[in-house]
Amino acid sequence: MGWFFKFTNSSVGKKLVMAVTGSFLIIFLIVHLIGNITLFFGPDAFNGYVSALDVVKPLIRVVELVLLAAFVLHIYDGFVLWLENRRARPVNYKVNASSENSTFTSRWMFWLGSVIFIFLVLHLATFFWRFNFYDPSGLANNHLYFNIVVNFFQIWWYVALYIVAVIALGFHLHHGFQSVFQTFGWNHKKYFPLIKKIGTLYAIVMAVGFASMPIYFFFFYGGSQ
Ligand code: HEM
Repeated sequence: MGWFFKFTNSSVGKKLVMAVTGSFLIIFLIVHLIGNITLFFGPDAFNGYVSALDVVKPLIRVVELVLLAAFVLHIYDGFVLWLENRRARPVNYKVNASSENSTFTSRWMFWLGSVIFIFLVLHLATFFWRFNFYDPSGLANNHLYFNIVVNFFQIWWYVALYIVAVIALGFHLHHGFQSVFQTFGWNHKKYFPLIKKIGTLYAIVMAVGFASMPIYFFFFYGGSQ
């Protein structure tokens, strides 16, 4: 077991952990976006979707625990790698060499990740907590999940934070997607440009998809809840 911890603590090991957990989070976001699209089909569709998930609750709980482990490892290793890079990078150079060999996004991964982390804490404290544990308005007890989401998406600062966070998410995913392939060594000259294009498309679909919900409910939703 000792070799395992030694490996995961090495730089290569940390990058591998980032890539494995990142891949899992990339897949989670696709599933999460598809599920949330039911919001556009009205209260019955969304409440029905959330209630259907209740039927397979034990399975969902297992997935959530894996998700939690993935987030914790991804954030912890991301933070440690960022610290190590900072220490290794010479400061006070007139020309910052890092701008030559890394893109804007890769240098900003830590800060983009930090914005996403702040968003995630607020997101879980509002939706996840209320849906599953305690909702002071009593809406969750009556399976009126749609109303909880719509009520939060009427609050301007909440909507603004979501939009800022999903833009950060788009940039983070844009770099993260291709990084996964690079870490696994799947960066063949012939196929890598295509992987990069798929990564860009994925990042745009996620950012626009997740932004569309708060924007729609804040600006365009006038229907009864
Ligand atoms: C902006 C559109 C989004 C909406 C409307 C939305 C909605 C929701 C809802 C309603 C839940 C509670 C589900 C339940 O417990 O049954 C939830 C949970 C969660 N969301 Fe989101 N979400 C959005 C964006 C995001 C983004 C961008 C991320 C990641 C960066 C994210 C990560 C999570 C996680 C980790 C959970 C807890 C796991 C789960 O219950 O599936 N969400 N979200």
